[in-house]
Amino acid sequence: GPRLVVLDEADAVADHAAAHIVGKLAPKPDLVLGLPTGETPRGIYARLAGAYRTGEVSFARASSFNLDEYQGLPPDHPASYHAYMREMLFRYVDIDPARTHLPDGLASDATAEGRRYEKAIAEAGGIGLMVLGIGGNGHIGFNEPGSPFDSRTRAVRLTEATREANRRSFPEGETVPEFAITMGIATILEAREILLVATGPIKAEALAAALTGPETLRCPASVLRRHPAVTIVCDTAAAAGI
Ligand code: GLP
Repeated sequence: GPRLVVLDEADAVADHAAAHIVGKLAPKPDLVLGLPTGETPRGIYARLAGAYRTGEVSFARASSFNLDEYQGLPPDHPASYHAYMREMLFRYVDIDPARTHLPDGLASDATAEGRRYEKAIAEAGGIGLMVLGIGGNGHIGFNEPGSPFDSRTRAVRLTEATREANRRSFPEGETVPEFAITMGIATILEAREILLVATGPIKAEALAAALTGPETLRCPASVLRRHPAVTIVCDTAAAAGI
């Protein structure tokens, strides 16, 4: 089952997760990374930028595929995941923009966009290290409860709970999109290795369900138990229910 690392606080989780990523990227400079957004990975990206600055690691030959993007948001919208990745990581490191990938939230044909994204992942050789957060309802990427096991990159409707949780990233008065494009459960499970990070008490229930509840797509993260190489790094607050 998953290897579980519980640390005292969120800073230690970010330290550990960033060191894990650097430890994989340094010996394999052409690593294909799967990347998450949200509050949790901010500290990880800051540390990766630091590791680049100090010469510990280079992203020059690496590729990245983000998990998801909101539908209808242009890449320069401040709450888009394109903007997030630029601001949190890409602008600070030597990654080749041509090798950074996110689903196109403006694609007029989401089915075709999903196919294009899956093809790009396959052509890059598949995802070597998939970094994941977890939603308060157990979602991974934007795969909400009930997402099919064989799902691939596609358009999904967000739950009210997820839209509410993500409201803080949007300018005052703007509505959170109802739809997103996300890698599927099958896409995520095909990664060779998975690193899931979770911090804070609001993740305790989801993490407990993922690790000790039934393996069910009502808690999408619980299916990670089927994967042979999963590491979960969390703080004591997030581990409280385990
Ligand atoms: C968001 C993202 C997920 C992320 C999760 C948790 O909606 N689509 O990829 O892992 O919810 O986000 P946070 O770290 O902000 O709690």
